[in-house]
Amino acid sequence: MYCKNIKVRNFRNITEADVGFERGVNILVGENAQGKTNLLEAIFYASVGKSFRAAHSAEIIKFGESFAEIDIDFNDGVRDQNINMKIFRDRQRKVEKNHVRIDKMSDIVGSFRAVLFCPEHLSLIKDGPAMRRNYLDIAISRIYPLYMKALQRYNYVLKQRNILIKNAISDRDSFDATVELWSAQLAKEAALISKYRAEFVKRVDKCVRECFSDMTGEKERTEISYVGSAHGEQDEYLDISKTEDKYFMLLTSAYDREISAGATLWGIHKDDIDIRLNGKQARLYASQGQQRSLALALKIAEGDICCEEFGDYPSLLLDDVLSELDASRREYLINKIESKQVIMTSCEEIIDDGAKKIKVENGVYF
Ligand SMILES: Nc1ncnc2c1ncn2[C@@H]1O[C@H](COP(=O)(O)OP(=O)(O)OP(=O)(O)O)[C@@H](O)[C@H]1O
Ligand SMILES: [Mg+2]
Repeated sequence: MYCKNIKVRNFRNITEADVGFERGVNILVGENAQGKTNLLEAIFYASVGKSFRAAHSAEIIKFGESFAEIDIDFNDGVRDQNINMKIFRDRQRKVEKNHVRIDKMSDIVGSFRAVLFCPEHLSLIKDGPAMRRNYLDIAISRIYPLYMKALQRYNYVLKQRNILIKNAISDRDSFDATVELWSAQLAKEAALISKYRAEFVKRVDKCVRECFSDMTGEKERTEISYVGSAHGEQDEYLDISKTEDKYFMLLTSAYDREISAGATLWGIHKDDIDIRLNGKQARLYASQGQQRSLALALKIAEGDICCEEFGDYPSLLLDDVLSELDASRREYLINKIESKQVIMTSCEEIIDDGAKKIKVENGVYF
């Protein structure tokens, strides 16, 4: 998978740009606030149909303009494709794939497969579990559309069950009459999602282990495992019916506790990933550079697994990845990614003779 060219109009500080990329390493070089991340954001928008840093799509439209446009030419490993998106201030969007109008954004999401790493991904290691669940959801949905469907069903059932719990104080009868049904449905979806997550995390663990061991000359060892809220070892979650029984038991065992907490206490909305470096929790003990390397390794694993599934490596978008990495880690990274398409940003000139360098100045690329 590689992006051949992108044309962008009225996207953040970019009035108009037409930028071509190589199959290998491409480096966007420029000073702060020139539009390096903005261009990566536009490329990633074409992949997932939303921005990775704007809460509302309208934020990405250039100040004073009524719409932004992204037009991307890419090769998906088999043929050349084109996606065109127009994003309007009133949240309307017009999308075309190969010049044919597409009504639902979800129908083109993932056509152009890209994996993004940006400094905010450090929170994958440093912060609470929500970001890690989000990582799993995005990466697994890309491979298994059924996962996304199960997640949507789960979120719906969870919302209903939480409303029921909140209303239980004033309407205990309705609670008693229906809670078991909702619990059974929640347990069923939770078990299915847990299995996908546990399997995926096992694959991530393997990729990150290899990546880290190579990067550090076998000095640093990682262990990554899935932590569900049904209390069990990672492998137990591979057995769907056993997990379903466990969740059902938990969800029907402590109604009073759930009512006083005002929320559902067990389920995949409580999941986490345990990330260890040399046997210790990375969140608490890893250095900045180690945390950054780990976050990056998680992203590289996401790309590797995507490649195993589709037989073709996604385009890697790396925002400001090299700062905080020492020379040997940088060298490892450059070697590791050289054979793939990489579009990365940097404030300083990087010596990499094989790379295409694109200068960025005030929203202009040359
Ligand atoms: N909607 C918008 N319209 C116009 N300009 C915008 C908009 N949103 C952001 N900008 C401008 O885009 C510029 C930032 O661009 P970007 O984030 O791509 O910088 P960068 O080159 O990645 O810098 P750094 O090296 O600091 O990360 C800022 O000057 C900001 O004011
Ligand atoms: Mg930036």
